[in-house]
Amino acid sequence: SRRIPLVAGNWKMNFDHLEATYFVQQLAWKLRDARFDYKRCEVALMPSFTSLRSVQVLVESDKLRIRYGAQAVSVTSQGAFTGDVSADMIAHLGCSYVIVGHSERRKYHPEDDANIVDQVRAVLAAGMQPILCVGESYEERRKGIELDFAVGQVHDVTRDLSDEEASRLIVAYEPVWAIGTGMVATPQSAQDAAKAIRDDLTATFSTTVGDTVRILYGGSVSSKNAVELIGEPDVDGFLIGGAALKVDELTKICRLT
Ligand code: G3H
Repeated sequence: SRRIPLVAGNWKMNFDHLEATYFVQQLAWKLRDARFDYKRCEVALMPSFTSLRSVQVLVESDKLRIRYGAQAVSVTSQGAFTGDVSADMIAHLGCSYVIVGHSERRKYHPEDDANIVDQVRAVLAAGMQPILCVGESYEERRKGIELDFAVGQVHDVTRDLSDEEASRLIVAYEPVWAIGTGMVATPQSAQDAAKAIRDDLTATFSTTVGDTVRILYGGSVSSKNAVELIGEPDVDGFLIGGAALKVDELTKICRLT
């Protein structure tokens, strides 16, 4: 496909700003030594809010090709919302992406579809790309409704966007049972979900939108399973948790993608 793959590391609540910048430097060196071609595959990291400024300074001073983003965002632009961070604040740190609707956010914070729609809009309005996370739990898979579930999640959150907005989306299909468990989806089931989501985007918006939106797989991705997964035509990269905390492992996955 003409879509450039994306390897995105979601660090979740790991690494302070010193550990974060050290990691980014190490990754950049290892990829440079491997003559990694960033035009062939984008690489991005999602540190904690507290590390973003340090990562920005490093990336800009060393002219690194690694991109970065945030893990969550407020739906409001400013005001009396203690502890929240706005999309503009994130954008002004040079962020390219914001993860929206990760299952851990849906579980531990009051994030429902209506709130997630507003997050997507806030990220787009600030000129960044939302990485919208969807995926069924074990319960939905057991009932055999996993495809409808994941497609429905994307559909409900995106249907009121314009074509232009929708074309800037990135979707991460992350079955909840696969996150942090070592139980990776089979390449076929990752492909089935990605294809079903893409077909729905094409039907809701246009062929251009369907062809443009990158659909990532997430859930226990490692250097052992990345090759088979990326071989699927509708899987355009990865959203990686645990394996993105180890620089050699992440380097390998980037090279294999
Ligand atoms: O955002 C990343 C996912 O939650 C995957 O995490 O690679 O540790 O399974 P994991």
